[in-house]
Amino acid sequence: MDFPPYYLDHIAGGRLIIGLIACLHVLINHPLAVGAYPLLTFMEWWAHKHNRPDIDRLAYRITFVVFLVTTTVGALTGVGIWLSTSLFAPFGIGSLLRVFFFGWFAEWLVFISEVVLIMWWFLSWKKADTPEKKKKHIKIGLALSIMSWLTMALIVAVLGFMMNTGDWSQSRAFLDAMTAPLYIPQLGFRTAFAFMTGAVFLWFCTYFFTKKDAAARAWMVERLSHVVLTSLIALFFFGVWYWFRIPEAMRANQSVALLSMSFVQWQDKFAMLLGCTNGVFLLIAIGGLTVPRLIPRWALLIPTFMGIWLLGHFERAREFMRKPWVIAEYLYSNGIRKDELRFLQSEGMLKHATYVKHHTVTPENRVEAGEDVFMISCSRCHSTTGLNGVLEKFTLMYGPGEWSEGGMVAFLGTMHKTSTFMPPFPGNRAEKEALVAYILDLRKTREPLTGAQSDGIRLPDLTPASIKP
Ligand code: HEC
Repeated sequence: MDFPPYYLDHIAGGRLIIGLIACLHVLINHPLAVGAYPLLTFMEWWAHKHNRPDIDRLAYRITFVVFLVTTTVGALTGVGIWLSTSLFAPFGIGSLLRVFFFGWFAEWLVFISEVVLIMWWFLSWKKADTPEKKKKHIKIGLALSIMSWLTMALIVAVLGFMMNTGDWSQSRAFLDAMTAPLYIPQLGFRTAFAFMTGAVFLWFCTYFFTKKDAAARAWMVERLSHVVLTSLIALFFFGVWYWFRIPEAMRANQSVALLSMSFVQWQDKFAMLLGCTNGVFLLIAIGGLTVPRLIPRWALLIPTFMGIWLLGHFERAREFMRKPWVIAEYLYSNGIRKDELRFLQSEGMLKHATYVKHHTVTPENRVEAGEDVFMISCSRCHSTTGLNGVLEKFTLMYGPGEWSEGGMVAFLGTMHKTSTFMPPFPGNRAEKEALVAYILDLRKTREPLTGAQSDGIRLPDLTPASIKP
């Protein structure tokens, strides 16, 4: 309401773009930065202690890959999250930034140290050719590992807060926001996830770097099996804790969250698939511990794909479950605050919105005003005719024939009760009717909807004749 709406038709306002960038970022951050750095440091330390140059060489070669990916795609997608959230949900990222200002400032300092340390560690590896220098070099790796974990630890506070704000809901205090109820379980869960997927990523690299070196490969298989097994146990423990800390209303979203509405009936099969994936991890780890030399080289590639699937799906489900909120019980996904909802429902949203063509609905402007209502209340989640398109959703409910205007208006009044992942309609009766008029018109014209980035901002016509007393 307070920002010109950036909107891309067909991809539901852009949440898919935020999601894709953020997922890619997590898929690099967790296994590579948080998981792999400490494991590679451990490899370097172990190789030094047991005089195994082959393991040191392998660690160096894998570090090159991790260094390359984290400082390019990893860093860029991090910036990409800021860019995409600022465009598509400025109200959300703006509110979070106000709450977490000092947390994010600290995170920025930690991130800068992380970048300096990774450069230093990787670029000075070959120069650490005496035992003294090697010891110092290992310490740089250790510092890097701590910094990488700290960046995650700070950001996880924000993610946990979004789902359950804890005491902050009363106190509005920064420290309460940093230590909201989901923080510790989620941090534990993600740390375990990072170590598990980090180990698995090291296996992936081992496939390419140990064609002729069966001894180093067997070492990697056996040592990292310990990591996978320990992480799995921690993952389970923190996962259960995390799950029961999620507010009950959000847990109720899980069936739609895990898949989507059209696949809800597949839930059991899907849960089985999740269970099986973890079971396969368990089997691989036990196999790796007991008969490391019997694991064929190609088998090292498979767990990485399972890890990508698990981690990506976890993020998707978590984001979905939080709906209809950006910040639980405070800010809805469409940027409306809970405490202004009643007011907007009685007064109307258009009257208080900055970037709209009309501040009131009249019989002549219904369709145009309805377009603004759609932009404000639905467009962060629905597109018109594309992904999660509003026409398609109504067609699923009412079929291809005539749609009843009265029925649609009634639906808008109760949509948050029948579909708990949607926010309540934040406007008055005239605005509901305007939205219905717009959707029915859209059904006929299928005219694409454009955002402020290509249309310019929308402002009411304020010539004297247009202003009514
Ligand atoms: C927080 C995001 C969000 C907002 C805001 C939102 N929706 Fe939805 N809506 C969804 C999701 C997610 C679904 C289910 C998609 C699926 O899995 O099929 C849905 C489903 C629907 C359905 C089908 C419901 C059913 O029970 O079959 C309709 C109709 C609908 N939305 C209309 C609207 C309208 C109109 C608005 C604006 C007033 C709106 N939605 C706002 C997320 C949202």
